[in-house]
Amino acid sequence: MLVYPGTEQEILEIDVFFQYCKLNCSISSNTLSGNLHISMASDNVVWHHATVTRTRRGDLNGHKSVILWFTGLSGAGKSTVAHALEERLYNSKRRTFVLDGDNVRHGLNSDLGFSNQDREENIRRIGEVSKLFLEAGVIVLTAFISPFRSDRKKVRGLAPHGDFIEIYCKCPLEICEERDVKGLYKKAREGKIPEFTGISSPYEEPTNPELTLDTSKLSVEESVQTVIQLLIERSILPDAP
Ligand code: ADX
Repeated sequence: MLVYPGTEQEILEIDVFFQYCKLNCSISSNTLSGNLHISMASDNVVWHHATVTRTRRGDLNGHKSVILWFTGLSGAGKSTVAHALEERLYNSKRRTFVLDGDNVRHGLNSDLGFSNQDREENIRRIGEVSKLFLEAGVIVLTAFISPFRSDRKKVRGLAPHGDFIEIYCKCPLEICEERDVKGLYKKAREGKIPEFTGISSPYEEPTNPELTLDTSKLSVEESVQTVIQLLIERSILPDAP
C-alpha cells in the first residue's frame, strides 16, 4: 500500500511512512487529514507531481482557489445564490465553476438515485471533482442538498484546512414548500416522489458552518455580498469584485 503524506514528501510505502511518523513528530494532524492519500488501487500506480502547482495557478489568476459548499433543502436557494455569486465573480475576471445537483445528476451521476447510499456516493464523487477544481485554481461553488453531516465532513477532509467553506442556506421547510419552484414538494406530499428530502428523507443541519445565509430573510444580492465579504476576510479574493 502506498501513502502520499503531503506536497513536500514523496510517495512512500505505508510501513516506511509509519517509520517516518515515529521519527518525525512535526507532521501535523492537518497534514494528515488534508493531504494524506492512501492508494489502494495498485502498487503500480505512482502519483505524478505537477510542475504547474495550485500556487502558481493562483498567481496567474490573481486569487486563491476554494470550495464554496452550499448545502440546504431543495428550494432553499443554493443554486440561485451560487449562480448569482458566480456571475459577480466572473464579471470581475475570477475563475469559477458551479457544480449543481440537478445538472450533475444528468451526467456524471446519472446512475444514482436518492437512497441514503446513492446520496453518499453522489457527494463523494462531487467531493473528488471539487478537489480537482481546487487544484486547478478555480473557485468552485457546489449546490447540492448534501443532507448528511458525515458526507459533508468527508468532503471537508479532502481539502486542505481552510479550503472548504460550508455555506448553509437556511430556509424553513414551509417556505421551501411554498416556493415549490419545481413542483416537487407537491408531488412528494402526494407520495409520488419517495425519499424526498424534508418530507420522507432527513436533512441534517450543519452544526458549525463557516456561514449561514437565512435565505427566507436575505435577498439574493445580500447573500452574495455576505459570501464575498468572507472571501475577502479570508484573503481568497485580494479585493472586492
Ligand atoms: S443530494 O441529496 O444527493 O445532495 P442533489 O442536490 O444531488 O441531492 O439533488 C437534489 C435535486 O434533485 C433537488 O433539487 C430536486 O430537484 C431533485 N430531486 C429529485 N428527487 C429528489 C428527492 N427524492 N429528494 C431530493 N431531491 C430530489
